[in-house]
This record gives sequence, C-alpha cells and structure tokens, in this order.
Amino acid sequence: MNVQTATRHPRFFTEDEVLAIREGVNGVFGGIPSRFYYDEEIYQWEVENILKKQWLLVGRADEAANPGDYFTIRMFDEPIVIVRGKDQKLRALINVCQHRFAQIVEEGRGNAKLFMCPFHRWTYALDGQLMGISVQDIPGVNKKDCRMPELRLDVWHGFVFINFDANAEPIANQYKALDPVFETWGVADFECRLNDQFDAPWNWKITYEAGMEGYHHVGVHHDRIEADIPAKHTDIICESEITTGYRMWWKDGMPEKYRQPFGTPPGEMGVDWDDDPRVLFGFPTFNTWINNYQSTYIVFEYGATALTGKGRICQAFPKWALETEHAEEALKFNTEFAREVQYEDEFASRIVQQGITSKTNGRALFHPLEKQMNRFHNWYLDRFLVG
Ligand code: FES
Ligand SMILES: [Fe+2]
Repeated sequence: MNVQTATRHPRFFTEDEVLAIREGVNGVFGGIPSRFYYDEEIYQWEVENILKKQWLLVGRADEAANPGDYFTIRMFDEPIVIVRGKDQKLRALINVCQHRFAQIVEEGRGNAKLFMCPFHRWTYALDGQLMGISVQDIPGVNKKDCRMPELRLDVWHGFVFINFDANAEPIANQYKALDPVFETWGVADFECRLNDQFDAPWNWKITYEAGMEGYHHVGVHHDRIEADIPAKHTDIICESEITTGYRMWWKDGMPEKYRQPFGTPPGEMGVDWDDDPRVLFGFPTFNTWINNYQSTYIVFEYGATALTGKGRICQAFPKWALETEHAEEALKFNTEFAREVQYEDEFASRIVQQGITSKTNGRALFHPLEKQMNRFHNWYLDRFLVG
C-alpha cells in the first residue's frame, strides 16, 4: 500500500475502499463509494475541507466588462455578487446587507452605480463599502468599518474563479499545464455567448464525472456523437498532479459541419490546428471542451445540501470568430449542439443519482477508457488524508 495512505488513513473510507482506488483489485480500479454521492455528513465535510479551499469557476470576465457590471451566483447558500468596480477591479462580494442581512442585489445581472438594499435603503459602493444609512446615522456605528464581506477572486485566461480561502495560492500556479494551449488560442479574449442554467438535483461530482471521459459517447451520446467520435477514439492527454484531459479524434476526419465553422483563425491561432477537440479538467471542478474557435464549460452552483445544486452550461468564442461573415449561423449551430449534448449529460447525471443510493452497491468497475476517473478519485481521496 502507498506509504502515505498507510500512515495517514483517510476519514470516511475503509481500508478496502482505499485499496480499490489506489491500487485496484485484480487490475480493475474502483471509484469512491456510493455514499459519497448522497451522505449529508460527507457533503458538509467536503464543503468545509475541500470545496471552500478550491478555486471555483463563476463565469467569464467579459460578463462584467465595464465598471458597475455585475452578476450574481449562489455557492453553499452564500449569495454572492461579482462586480467590476470603478477602479476596473473585479470583486466577489457577499451579497448581504450588514443592517439586518437582507440580500441586497436581486439575482440576475445588470449594471449599477451603487448597491442599495431595498429593505431600508442602506447604500454600498461597488467595492462593498457602506456609504449611507437611511434617515440618520446610528450613533456608535462608523460606516468606514462596515462593508459587504469579500471573497478571493482571480481571473485566469478570462475565466473568473472565487475562493473562500483567503490564503489560497493564485490560480495561475495551479493550472500551469493548461497555459500553452490556452495562450495559443487566445482564450483570455473569448466572449461568453451561451449561459443556460439547469437544475442539478444530484451530487456535484456526478456533473463533472459525466464529462470526464469519452467512453459515454457509446451510451448517452450514441446518436449524436458516437458515429463521428467513437468512444474508442478518446485518449488521455495533459496529465499533471491537478489536471487531466482527453483528446477525441474523428473517425473519418472532421465532418464539414464541425470544421472551422467560423472560417480560418488568424495568425498563431490557426497554426498547428489538428482537428481534434480536447476536454480538459482541472480538479476538482474546472472542465472545458476547448478548441481554437470555442470553449464549452460548466459553472456549478453548489447547494446547501448534497443534492440541491444548480449548474450553468456556457460557451465562449474568440472575437475574430464573432466578427466573421457567418458568425450568426455558426454561433447558432455551436450553441444548439452544446445544449443538446448537455441535455444528454443531464440525463446521465439523473440516472446515476437514481442508482447510486442503492445499498447493494459495491465498488464501481472502471473501464480502461476511464483512467481519468481514477486519477480524479485519487486526487479526491488525498483530500481526506487528515490528522
Ligand atoms: S436589511 Fe438592508 S437596509 Fe435593512
Ligand atoms: Fe457527455
């Protein structure tokens, strides 16, 4: 057994369960046990000890491009507003009034000069500082000491992440392995054009695992993808401690309808184009299907409990693509494809959650095309090494 595991036994796991993940049984790797997908005690532990220490994707910087632009999101029952200040800085503020804790900004997006709580009209600057108390000040309260609490926020290649851990390392250190391809394709300048919310009454891990391998092309995507990109044409790439991914290649070359729908990318972005879409994962929750004309990604809004999340399926495109002659048509084709594939992945998530609560479940049996799952589960297991 792994030395680290032998000396530091992970919480919530039995030794057999650890072995199945670390070393497999008879050469077959198993996943984390079923109860990790619905047990509330485990979920609350995950929230405090894993998820609140991670960089969590909330959207794209271009969604709040100008001073005063904002959008809201809810994570672990914390109402949050992402807002660009007059100083051009993006901030993640807890969207709660310091008077009697009303949610200040209604859920959604828009542009504001300041935030005013509707309950008693206290006002806050775009950086969260309390500006005004209505009617008269409260003796003994210094407005300068009063502000909407702020979370860490980091922007990486245009993706906006927040972190509940004030001491977290910058995200750029974490996903270095993905930098070369993101830089070549100018991902920092992509613009978000699809942002559809979906209910996710299943565990957050199921959403991510539904896209972590290309093996499921043979199943839920059988009619839409398998004929062009068979499950067996998916291959692991980009392995590092914190990331994994797979490349999918087209059976008979890329069909015309998918080939450069916006036309030839300019300069560097068109160089070394090899037709192959890539799905990249940064653990635990960043995933994108990306190539030089689009990035499809999921923003997950974690619920207060294990099965009450929401998600958003999003797509961003480079500026050059959005300015081409056939942009409107190509955009429509891409967003519709993303929606249809997402619908099938939601179906997969739903049926896994329906089956995963069975008390008869033993260990999962990973197929050779699902090696990424084992990498993720080892990473996940490492987070449980405490004491
Ligand atoms: S709760 Fe916001 S002003 Fe009273
Ligand atoms: Fe899928």
